[in-house]
Amino acid sequence: MQIRIEPLADESPVVLPEPLGFGRVPTRRILTCRYEAGRGWADAEIGPRQHFVLDPAAQIFHCGQGIFEGTKAYLRPDGRINLFRPDANAARFNRSAERMAMPNFPEADFVTAIETLVALEHAWTPRTDAASLYIRPVMIAAEPTLEVRSSREYIFYVVLTPTGPFFAGGFEPVAVRVEEHHVRAAPGGTGEAKTIGNYAASLYATEAARVAGYQQVLWLDAVERRFVEEAGAMNVAFVYGGKEIVTPALSGSILPGITRDSLLRLAPDLGYAVREARLDIDEVIADIESGRITEVFCMGTAAVVAPIGRIGHHGRDVIVADGRSGPVATRLHRTLTDIQYGRAPDPYGWIRVLDTVA
Ligand code: PLP
Ligand code: COI
Repeated sequence: MQIRIEPLADESPVVLPEPLGFGRVPTRRILTCRYEAGRGWADAEIGPRQHFVLDPAAQIFHCGQGIFEGTKAYLRPDGRINLFRPDANAARFNRSAERMAMPNFPEADFVTAIETLVALEHAWTPRTDAASLYIRPVMIAAEPTLEVRSSREYIFYVVLTPTGPFFAGGFEPVAVRVEEHHVRAAPGGTGEAKTIGNYAASLYATEAARVAGYQQVLWLDAVERRFVEEAGAMNVAFVYGGKEIVTPALSGSILPGITRDSLLRLAPDLGYAVREARLDIDEVIADIESGRITEVFCMGTAAVVAPIGRIGHHGRDVIVADGRSGPVATRLHRTLTDIQYGRAPDPYGWIRVLDTVA
């Protein structure tokens, strides 16, 4: 892929605001690429970040054909930059594209797009602890028509945002509420695709949980409202007896997380057993209360690992163990982030080092 690179008007030194928060601070450049049926992808360009001009009938606004990814660039101790499994994001992006009847974006080009943009914007990579440069590749349907059918025009773009820790409290346990009425995704639906509508569908219950004092929703399956699926926009895991990590098996309505996959591969090397299973919420709650479950945590790119200390269920709160961060979540978080930040060797072949020095 040839990427045309436009100069920036603003070349002044980058000053990162504090606190960074998550997803709020834009960098100066954007990568864009355009698709038309019959022509394919063309016009890859990196230039000053600016607004799109879209017709009000553009299909993204009506049919919601939109998908995105999330991955991060991490500053290494030697000043270079690590990317973590961008090829896995590329593969998932195309699985999402297929489900949403959108065109594929070549996986090698997806990785090149990220590498080129991050190398140009390297000065935005935060140096503070637990901070990173969040990368957001997106594809939207751009054809102006009100017909309900797959678009013939698309825009692929990548934007970046320097981010601090996902949760304001850092590695502090979060509270989740089991959602008994609304569902995030149903069998045969789009839950395993990273498509924008899934997030829209999640907001009502998430806002209600927030008002009630919880940070996230614990989603159950759509058919029986019985089996645990995800925690907010993250995968979830339960630790039995401090030794065995159990996570919901991918059901078709769960997003296959890259953090989840990485932790399932890494945990056995730390001496933990791992298991994917159907987890009945009533059994989970009983196992927390009896002490069989010693920890609960969520997994995702933004937070990496976030302990869950309190679960609201049927109008009452269940505290996980002593309500504090447990040793398994802490160790998994440290081991994976050490690999991501280049503080430890990567025996799994997950890291791509950019030669740019930030
Ligand atoms: N589940 C949902 C719904 C998500 O949006 C995400 C985040 O991308 C995840 C799980 C975690 O996936 P990953 O570890 O690839 O970030
Ligand atoms: C994650 O990276 O874990 C996420 O949940 C992404 C979210 C900001 C959409």
